Amino acid sequence: LTGRAVMTDLVDPGQEHDIGHIRVADRADLMIVAPATANLIARLAAGMADDAVTAVALATRAPLLLAPSMNVNMWQHPLTAANVRRLIDVAGAHVVGPGDGFLACRWTGPGRLAEPADIVAAAARLRSAQDLAGRAVVITAGPTHEPIDPVRYIANRSSGKQGYAIAAAAARAGAKVTLVSGPVALATPPGVNRVDVETAREMADAVKRALPADVAIMVAAVADWRTLEAAPEKMKKRGSAPPALRLTENPDILASVAVHEKRPKLVVGFAAETEQVIDHAKEKRKRKGADWIVANDVSGDVMGGNANAVHIVSDKGVESLPEMPKDDVAAALVERIADALVKSGSRSR
Ligand code: PMT
Repeated sequence: LTGRAVMTDLVDPGQEHDIGHIRVADRADLMIVAPATANLIARLAAGMADDAVTAVALATRAPLLLAPSMNVNMWQHPLTAANVRRLIDVAGAHVVGPGDGFLACRWTGPGRLAEPADIVAAAARLRSAQDLAGRAVVITAGPTHEPIDPVRYIANRSSGKQGYAIAAAAARAGAKVTLVSGPVALATPPGVNRVDVETAREMADAVKRALPADVAIMVAAVADWRTLEAAPEKMKKRGSAPPALRLTENPDILASVAVHEKRPKLVVGFAAETEQVIDHAKEKRKRKGADWIVANDVSGDVMGGNANAVHIVSDKGVESLPEMPKDDVAAALVERIADALVKSGSRSR
């Protein structure tokens, strides 16, 4: 798959000549063993180096990430537990999983190899700077649904992708993340505490419950209006005239967080604009009391799409980033947030 040579045999002079286990060990930034069987864990814990994997693990100075996978009884055996403990305590190894569930051996319980996405996330956490370690971050994402009747609602096209990417990036940077999410079809990023809500008022309550926090990042596309009163039963077509919806304004979550007695040190809002993007974002920053507004032009396919081009508006001016994947926007924003917290002197890194 990688198009690179695979090292399988420690005693094959041909392979050693091509790759060399010490060269592999020296070059690695991180060593992932997936799956890590009971046998391999035992041999690693004993410091053995009699095959390619154990030899590289012993020789490398890179962090070691183990993803155990085995029968539940093997996993729960005191010898395996002691071996894992020894690898963590003596060798500083990191462990992801195992998951709990139905196993290939037909037993049920802990022993399943962690999901690939969780292994990748654990690896990313080990590789990324823990710039937000010890910080609490509350993030909103997705749309809100404002009921018209039991089956209909007012909503918008937000997919939650941008907010979820920011939650994942903040968690990777070591933050304790509460993600208050409107209805979306996305998996919870690893290490994130997700609170599901439907309406703007539920979102406002959940955000307040998540305070105090060091940072609030309000990415959700909150419906500005809701129906004055949702019909208790499904509305019927009566006569020829369509029903008139009476709307009322929703609470402004961003504005209320900005004046809250437990106001986070950094309050970041987003602005979804279709024209005069930066001017409107500047006005919104002042009106809503946010420290930063991240403005994006939603006249194209930013809502629901995978890429975004944002302008970060603060009291220092405007920083415009080129279009990039939403994951990269998230990483860039989290980096700037970590820097701002350090500069504000709220704590050193
Ligand atoms: O979810 P995706 O498909 O990935 O799309 C991402 C996005 C386009 C939704 C996102 O990048 C974005 O722009 N989010 C803000 C959407 C929005 O509602 O913008 P706004 O300009 O209407 O609101 C300004 C700010 O006030 C936002 O931080 C919003 O969360 C907040 N707000 C708005 C209304 C309200 N009642 N309460 C709020 O807190």
